[in-house]
Amino acid sequence: MSGDAPKRPGPRPARRSDRWFAAEGMRAFAHRSRMQQVGWRREDFVGKPVIGVLNTWSDLSTCHSHLRERAASVKAAVVRAGGFAAELPALSLGEVMVKPTTMLYRNLLAMEAEELIRSHPLDGVVLMGGCDKTTPGLIMGAISAGLPFIYLPAGPTLNGSWRGEKIGTGTHTRRYFDAYRAGEISQAEWDDLERSMVRSAGTCNTMGTASTMTLLAETLGLTLPGAAATPAADSAHIRLAEATGARIVEMVEADLRPADVLSPASFANAIVALHAVGGSTNAVIHLTAMAGRAGVALTLADFERPAGKTPLIADLMPTGRFLMEDLFLAGGSNGLLKRLSPHLDLAARTVSGRSLGETLADARIDDDEVIRPLDRPVTSEPALAVLTGSLAPEGCVIKPSAATPHLLTHRGRAVVFESFADMAARIDDPDLAVDETSVLVLKGAGPLGGPGMPEWGGLPIPRKLLERGVRDMVRISDARMSGTHFGACVLHVAPESALGGPLALVRDGDEILLDTPGRRLDLLVDEDELARRRAAWTPPPPRFARGYGAMFSAHIQSAPRGCDFDFLEGVAPTAEPDIY
Ligand code: FES
Repeated sequence: MSGDAPKRPGPRPARRSDRWFAAEGMRAFAHRSRMQQVGWRREDFVGKPVIGVLNTWSDLSTCHSHLRERAASVKAAVVRAGGFAAELPALSLGEVMVKPTTMLYRNLLAMEAEELIRSHPLDGVVLMGGCDKTTPGLIMGAISAGLPFIYLPAGPTLNGSWRGEKIGTGTHTRRYFDAYRAGEISQAEWDDLERSMVRSAGTCNTMGTASTMTLLAETLGLTLPGAAATPAADSAHIRLAEATGARIVEMVEADLRPADVLSPASFANAIVALHAVGGSTNAVIHLTAMAGRAGVALTLADFERPAGKTPLIADLMPTGRFLMEDLFLAGGSNGLLKRLSPHLDLAARTVSGRSLGETLADARIDDDEVIRPLDRPVTSEPALAVLTGSLAPEGCVIKPSAATPHLLTHRGRAVVFESFADMAARIDDPDLAVDETSVLVLKGAGPLGGPGMPEWGGLPIPRKLLERGVRDMVRISDARMSGTHFGACVLHVAPESALGGPLALVRDGDEILLDTPGRRLDLLVDEDELARRRAAWTPPPPRFARGYGAMFSAHIQSAPRGCDFDFLEGVAPTAEPDIY
């Protein structure tokens, strides 16, 4: 049951798809004729709300392996609700397979989604994604297209288990890889873990980037209640797909558009939720970009605001103990948001047509260990801290809740890697001059330099230190870090090194001061010396002579601006296509 205003009797308003299907003349004849070419009858699609189902399924996007079946459920529900459904494939960004990084292609997916929606005879859209960049990419494009849309997250994979231990995708990959490199587990055990790590279709089951972004999509009001934590393999996910298909038809009838749902309050709610779940640092970039498309200007300071005020109540890896299936059984993402209600603006609107508060009325919490009471948080450390200082004049971020506490305030000497290749070649060199007090610094990994800001920010611990039991060190880069990872990693340093930011000037042996409580990151080198280095610095040569990469390099914005393309930011209307 939706909260839309009751429909008035009388002739229905014209729909966008009428321009293609309900017009006179040769073009409309051709549109209808081509639909009938595949067996549809006129009455199946003419005069019906036409719903696009944007599906990011592919054989190499294994988190989305069930999305063709779910698309069938969505489409069947659309038809039962009186609509017509058309499935459209969209760029599938399987986080693990796509190189050098899916972040290089998030904006390409956003462009594709926007133009798919705009160029086709659609009245409303169901977006189907979940694996990391697919959520922001699809939503950014759909916001800009401006038609009614609803998001259907792929849902997390089932809980992992290996030799009696609950294991999380990503989190335990890195943890056991360190153990493997340190000689603590055998080759046979490492191979066995590979077979056991992921049990079903679905996105990473930790509160990594995928779960963070789907949870934020739900908090923004862009999904049905409880969607984010519904496991891909649970029958509830099929019912969710059916309900989503039915709802988009109602949204079209009510003309409920993204501009009616998204507001500064909904983005403020999403930032609160990010803190409450110990979410991925990647969300800072994606949420900024999504907000930009909705005309809401977020800055890094907006992300710092809830720190210290919002309790981290989701006991989920990598910060805590549990996984997304546990969250589903504990009450789900809507149960979590209900508990968080005192910190949320419950008047914010949602795709249900109701306020966020109204959608949470029936939510319940069944396990206070997974969804902690507000007065019993998982940790007192914030999920996110925004730092500035002489090493990051435009800001950077760290995730204190997933770092070793004593490293949050640290003064150490830099061990500098000029590129990822340089790091890979030397990190395990027995002669590398490094100890546990060192600060590992990686350059050339930002939005322009990476290119695409790969998740290289969780630099590996040098093998000789791993063998001595060291599991965390201060690491600094202009890269991102997987939301599933753990560590005292300072990320998104801006301006990035490829643009000549202070990070580009750091040399081996320089002292660096990380003061997380004071929100500072400083390079302790005097200004005269830095000026000499700056004068000698030369920018790296262009990475791409042609193609998408060249366009990316020419237009990519900085991390604090959300890494959107400059020409995609903003809300200036784009004209509907002419139909000739
Ligand atoms: Fe797809 Fe993590 S690899 S969500």
